[in-house]
Amino acid sequence: MSRGRLSGRVAIVTGAAHGLGRAHALYMAGQGARIVVNDLGGSVHGEGRDSGPAEGVAEEIRARGGEAIASGHDVADWHQAQELVRVAIGAFGALHVLVNNAGIVRDRTLANMSEAEWDDVIRLHLKGHAAPTRHAMAYWRDQHKQGHPVKASIVHTSSVSGLAGIFGQANYGAAKLGIVALSRVAMLEGARYGVRSNVISPSARTRITTSMDGSQESLLPPEVDGVFDSSDPANVSPLVGWLGEENCPATGQIFHIGGNRLLSIKLTEIVREFRVAGRWTADDLDRELSGNMAEPPSIEAFLGRPTLGQRLEELYGDARGAGQTTPHGRDGR
Ligand SMILES: NC(=O)c1ccc[n+]([C@@H]2O[C@H](COP(=O)([O-])OP(=O)(O)OC[C@H]3O[C@@H](n4cnc5c(N)ncnc54)[C@H](O)[C@@H]3O)[C@@H](O)[C@H]2O)c1
Repeated sequence: MSRGRLSGRVAIVTGAAHGLGRAHALYMAGQGARIVVNDLGGSVHGEGRDSGPAEGVAEEIRARGGEAIASGHDVADWHQAQELVRVAIGAFGALHVLVNNAGIVRDRTLANMSEAEWDDVIRLHLKGHAAPTRHAMAYWRDQHKQGHPVKASIVHTSSVSGLAGIFGQANYGAAKLGIVALSRVAMLEGARYGVRSNVISPSARTRITTSMDGSQESLLPPEVDGVFDSSDPANVSPLVGWLGEENCPATGQIFHIGGNRLLSIKLTEIVREFRVAGRWTADDLDRELSGNMAEPPSIEAFLGRPTLGQRLEELYGDARGAGQTTPHGRDGR
């Protein structure tokens, strides 16, 4: 396993005991990277702790001839995140790639959300991406200052929930869009030291997506062998591996990936510009903005897909369901 596109690279993958993180860890190890399989081992809602699942993935990598160790650090704890970075460097002598992937969901509409549901999800995703990034960045800054060439990469995990919004996910979506801002600053600051920073918005069948309400048939594996499984988390991992390669050119990018579909995304685009002679008045705003508003985001428009109403119309040729929107995106969160 030592030869591959990630040969010589050391990578931390957070939340790597299940789902996407596990797929990334196995793929990157298969490409020759030495892996720290980090996972707290809790439930999909973040309850409990178990070192077994991370150990299991590290063992799976070693059984295939790769190099891996397990870490049970909580990525959203500042000091444990520092320890995680130290453990990687202590075990393998360096760190080149940080894949921030750990995640939980606690869905609730805004009117019903508890403070704990808000805090836990924001903490795990936003601080859980920021804390390992902060400590990895300090290591790379020091390496750069000592004259060692740095070719490092951070891959952050966002979601269409942050990029377009999903009903019932105010906490999760707010954190996931915050992660885009975090990556942008990491890109700006890391450029001085040789660190690249990119965001992926994945879509795959995992504990998170199968715990969603509503019909999940689009996530089921194909019944016929040999048919492409478009919901397999492993479909996302080659992009993560590519972003981690020493000479990958990408930085400051956002990608949505699921199945065989890869979208390159640009946010923060100015849609229109208006000016008046002096300070804006309410009458000016009436005149310029009424009837001239940008489309509010929708998951279907964002992903370039028909709405549920349009799909039903295509299927049945009438307006059944027209005007409805899907309560939850089936394209993953
Ligand atoms: N599955 C999708 O379609 C989808 C869509 C958009 C975004 N995502 C994001 O992808 C990432 C991976 O999710 P998944 O779908 O594979 O779900 P998953 O539940 O299978 O994996 C998440 C992992 O994170 C771990 N984790 C939770 N808290 C942790 C902590 N404090 N420290 C370390 N590890 C911790 C969990 O134990 C779990 O193994 C998440 O950030 C999720 O928000 C997934």
